[in-house]
Amino acid sequence: MTAEYQVNGAVAVITLANPPVNGLGLSTRKGIVDGVNKAMNDPAVKAVVITGAGKAFSGGADIKEFNTPAAMAEPTLHTVIRVVENAEKPVVAAIHSVAMGGGLELALGCHYRVAVPGAQIALPEVKLGILPGAGGTQRLPRVVGLEMALNMIVSGTPVPSEKLAKTKLFDQMIDGDLMQGAIAFANKVADARPLPKVRNIRIDYPNYEGFLQFSRNTVKAMAGPFPAPLKCVEAVAAAVTQKFDEGIRIERELFLELVQTNESKALRHAFFAERAASKIPDVPEDTPKREIKSVAVIGAGTMGGGIAMNFANAGIPVKILEMKQEALDKGLATIRKNYENTMKKGKLTQEKFDQRVGLITGTLSYEEIGQCDIVVEAVFEDMGVKETVFKKLDEVMKPGAILASNTSTLDVDKIAAFTKRPQDVIGLHFFSPANVMRLLEIVRGAKTGKDVLATSMALSKKIKKTGVVSGVCDGFIGNRMIEQYSRQAGFLLEEGCTPEQVDKAVEKFGFAMGPFRMGDLAGNDIGWYIRKRRYVEKPEVTYSKTADLLCEMGRFGQKTSAGWYDYKPGDRKAYPSQMVNDMIVKHSADLGIERRKVSDEEIVERLVYALVNEGARILEEGIAMRASDIDMVYLTGYGFPVFRGGPMFYADTVGLPNVVMAMQKYARGSHAEAWTPAPLLKRLADEGKTFN
Ligand code: 3HC
Ligand code: NAI
Repeated sequence: MTAEYQVNGAVAVITLANPPVNGLGLSTRKGIVDGVNKAMNDPAVKAVVITGAGKAFSGGADIKEFNTPAAMAEPTLHTVIRVVENAEKPVVAAIHSVAMGGGLELALGCHYRVAVPGAQIALPEVKLGILPGAGGTQRLPRVVGLEMALNMIVSGTPVPSEKLAKTKLFDQMIDGDLMQGAIAFANKVADARPLPKVRNIRIDYPNYEGFLQFSRNTVKAMAGPFPAPLKCVEAVAAAVTQKFDEGIRIERELFLELVQTNESKALRHAFFAERAASKIPDVPEDTPKREIKSVAVIGAGTMGGGIAMNFANAGIPVKILEMKQEALDKGLATIRKNYENTMKKGKLTQEKFDQRVGLITGTLSYEEIGQCDIVVEAVFEDMGVKETVFKKLDEVMKPGAILASNTSTLDVDKIAAFTKRPQDVIGLHFFSPANVMRLLEIVRGAKTGKDVLATSMALSKKIKKTGVVSGVCDGFIGNRMIEQYSRQAGFLLEEGCTPEQVDKAVEKFGFAMGPFRMGDLAGNDIGWYIRKRRYVEKPEVTYSKTADLLCEMGRFGQKTSAGWYDYKPGDRKAYPSQMVNDMIVKHSADLGIERRKVSDEEIVERLVYALVNEGARILEEGIAMRASDIDMVYLTGYGFPVFRGGPMFYADTVGLPNVVMAMQKYARGSHAEAWTPAPLLKRLADEGKTFN
């Protein structure tokens, strides 16, 4: 059992001991019930304290147990809380670090609660697409009030314990040693009778109907495709409109409904996927890391500036190197402007502004960056230019410095070979805008040192990025997949769609932005440049020529106020372009294609399954370590709908045999070669298995 029992004078102490965060799995639940029973049967024991070992009181129900028989096995969390609440001797929760979800619900079932300041208190279930299912929606409003409870439950945001010190949630805040304080408190209340129970507290909120209606309207407008937030309101409403036991019944019903939804499964998948991505099987967490106290960035263009900001935001000084003073001044001015805009929005204080701007300095001399601990190269995407830069870096950088490239498509192993220290070379592929996007693809070269990889993973965490490891290939995980998606988008134009129709279908599916609006934002010239290279390197791969025709018209996107759509200067809103639509129709005619009406379903399937198929190849080749890493890349870097869990998870929920069947159908149309199922996808589908 993962809960320990100890008697300390007249007080029994039950310590949850289920690392890392004392999740309330079956064995821990059994331990608590056992401990309480022991304490009740021991005449020497007058009171009980429940606390948590290590870094949490409790992080809540064990999420890994959801939808498994263990979740329903007795004692369930409900039973545990009933046993605690009905105990005939006082039970005191002693809270430190983290009391979340089921952990907080357990504490709410105790007769008393004491806490140290700084503990994070939350009912974060909504973030997993569910609601508190062990009485949280009924008990929290009784101790912190209806409004605060609703806010906490609908947002899932943690509140520091000291901010709740004056509510009925806590009977005492303990400044010194928690266990000493908790035992003293337990001794003090040992003879108190009757024992207080949160369920007996009345919620006093005269105009609750008006408040609940207001909450329903607000939450409905904000919840998007997620069902959980509104159900949270319904459950909390029951706390005021129903008797306690009926409220619990309603909460339970809503919880069981939500836990089965694809949205909740997707959010739980994303929770574990994010944590899994930080683990590299042959690079254990205790791998020695290099110290990073200073950074150099080469190139102050679109990416270099954003990259530099990430480090400055984390308090690390950055030197940006450019070839010419003019380019350097321009880059530094852009950085300053970005920070000014953030300050204007009230998201940055003058003090932080000064601090961050002060941490970024410019230089034209390689000699000045030699002592930096890491250098991130962000110069033009051209192997010749990369060669010059890396040869120079090899000359000037101190031994042990990490040499990173932000290349989006080039071979990191070739770049490493320009130096005499390939073990120090790695790809750090930021996404634009680099100071905003969460994704960082960490590209592991054939010779990249394990300590370099471990340091880069730790650094990505420090600058608040989601680091995902990719092997070396053209486009790495994300861009290699997006190319197949873009190809399908292009073919759809030839067959009968407009850019607007494709974008709308994909956005309705949940993508933040459709492929054509995305192209206009990023710059259509980038893809044009890559395709020109592909026409030479891989002449067998076919592309729609519509995007080339667009670029030949000089329509690069928002930066030229014209792309797939028309734009008004200074306005990002996309207006459908008659000229572009005419060009597309003419192109179909030139190809002899009879345009047809394409359904939204076909658009979504072709774009998403193109991602899935390439994802399967990437997985099979070992470029990605796990399917969930691919999902993380798409959730954090490409606006894939979070409630669908990423392309690979989505394919699992559709069923891989259905994905293969749809692909076979599309193979009967044009460009059949794009629909050859990846061997891994075919095998898993045949075996009735899933990616994740
Ligand atoms: N169940 C199972 N595992 C959990 C868990 C949980 N509730 N919470 C965290 N973990 C695991 C993580 O998967 C990770 O495992 P790993 O080391 O194998 O990757 C490990 O604990 C550490 O997690 P973090 O990296 O997130 O550690 P931090 O120290 O940064 O954060 C935390 C700790 C604040 C507790 C954070 O993990 C968290 O927010 N956890 C989720 C809390 C939550 O959502 N609780 C509600 C659960 S649902 C519930 O209680 C239902 C009930 O109402 C019936
Ligand atoms: P950019 O053209 O905006 O900036 C490149 C900068 O590098 C310019 O300011 C240029 O003066 C400078 N430069 C060129 N050669 C140099 C040299 N030898 N020494 C010092 N400075 C030099 O290009 P961008 O978009 O910032 O791209 C940079 C790198 O980042 C490329 O490898 C690109 O593939 C990659 N990338 C770009 C993304 C994007 O969306 N723009 C996204 C992710 C990666």
